Amino acid sequence: MKLLIDDARLDEIKKIYEFFPVSGVTTNPTILSKVGGNPFDTLKKIRGFIGEEADLHVQAVNRRAEKIVDEAKHIVEVLGANTYVKIPAVPEGFKAMKILVETSEILITATAIYTPMQAFIAGQCGASYAAPYVNRIDNMGFNGLTVAKEIQQIFSSNRMETEVIAASFKNSQQVLELCKCGISAATIAPEIFFALIKNSAINDAVENFIADFESFAGKDKSMLDFK
Ligand code: E4P
Repeated sequence: MKLLIDDARLDEIKKIYEFFPVSGVTTNPTILSKVGGNPFDTLKKIRGFIGEEADLHVQAVNRRAEKIVDEAKHIVEVLGANTYVKIPAVPEGFKAMKILVETSEILITATAIYTPMQAFIAGQCGASYAAPYVNRIDNMGFNGLTVAKEIQQIFSSNRMETEVIAASFKNSQQVLELCKCGISAATIAPEIFFALIKNSAINDAVENFIADFESFAGKDKSMLDFK
């Protein structure tokens, strides 16, 4: 399962990249609104930091298919290859996906997915990824993990190439559950990244090993001090 960062704040992105194996960054208009200013200034800085090979997901915000198509082309022109254009899985979005797949090589992430049927249709339109919103689905009284797993099952049963990029997580357990069933990708907010491995027993174990070493080797000593 690929891990991506669901944020546009460069300092937060850098922090996560320093410690975790990350494949890219996802954004949405709400995430960009937290940085403000010209969205391309923000996105170009992110692209510059993560490099050309990493995945960057950027959402189109027009309502009409033809405009979404223009916006998608503009996004990829400015941000380069490996930029996925996020398009809402609604009728105008499906129409835009079909046009883009027929007329360009633009990579599409179908977004705002709350139901398996949206994902299936987006996949049939040629989207590379479908992004179910796990936590938002939970908040509607359904089970977001079940929906994400069902979508994965639908893609596999129908031999579709579309992959799941699960989104909208509120805790590390949700991420683990999807990891267990081999979901292709998960995009996670910075605070959840650190929660993935937050466990005082682990820290205690590491500290105890260091203390035991220092008990015979001396304070601040390590294997570097011996031959
Ligand atoms: C991803 O495509 C979504 O934009 C995002 O993960 C939504 O997350 P939220 O429900 O925490 O806003």
